[in-house]
Amino acid sequence: MTTEVTTSYDPLLRRIHWATAILFIAAMLIGLYCGLQAPGTSPRRELLEVHKSLGVTLFFLAILRLMVRLATSAPQGPGSFSPMVRIAARLNHWALYAILFIMPVGYMFSSAGGYSLRYFWTFSWPRLFAHNQTVEHAGEVAHGALAYLVYLAVALHIAATLWHVVVKKDETLARMWPRASRNPT
Ligand code: HEM
Ligand code: HEM
Repeated sequence: MTTEVTTSYDPLLRRIHWATAILFIAAMLIGLYCGLQAPGTSPRRELLEVHKSLGVTLFFLAILRLMVRLATSAPQGPGSFSPMVRIAARLNHWALYAILFIMPVGYMFSSAGGYSLRYFWTFSWPRLFAHNQTVEHAGEVAHGALAYLVYLAVALHIAATLWHVVVKKDETLARMWPRASRNPT
């Protein structure tokens, strides 16, 4: 009997990860830019529609991703990782998953505020929340406050990957991108 040892994440999970990475960083930068512009001005108005469309797409990708993640097995942490590094990586990944599910709360305040959500210049997304200033305000505050956690968690995630690739020169990136392996099998 042979025991298969997984050295990288499931191929579908890897594809979703990289699609998420691109869409998420775009949503984050557009959100950051829009947050710095005065309400009602152009191009903030147009860019916010793109931001919201990206956010909704990321929410559905997150659901699919969680299902794939639970249905497949993750590779074991490299033996070279110390217990502290394993815990830090796990905490960072948990935070990123939480963010992927909580940030779309932006939809709540956009909907309760009566704002439009035209999905990538096509149809208008239905407003699932009735007009309500309290809900709008609560959603806006939560979305804005969580943005700081987003910047921190994503910056740490990318910095840690760079550290493993450039300094440690280990197999961390190959777990998510097997072609990056120095010894492809
Ligand atoms: C993963 C999904 C999302 C991420 C990472 C994200 C991230 C951000 C960030 C970083 C900001 C700037 C925060 C600030 O400066 O206050 C922002 C602003 C904003 N986001 Fe999102 N967002 C996401 C989803 C959504 C969704 C689904 C909607 C609505 C349907 C939305 C609506 C908004 C609006 C309206 C603003 C501007 C707030 C203001 O200027 O007062 N976001 N977002
Ligand atoms: C340029 C950007 C990014 C790079 C270079 C990158 C790199 C990586 C690498 C190398 C891993 C494997 C780490 C390991 O197994 O210990 C990983 C895992 C992970 N990444 Fe990223 N990542 C990026 C962006 C993002 C973004 C934007 C998110 C979510 C908001 C994210 C969420 C995750 C999660 C949750 C995992 C754990 C695997 C899982 O359970 O799905 N990554 N990333």
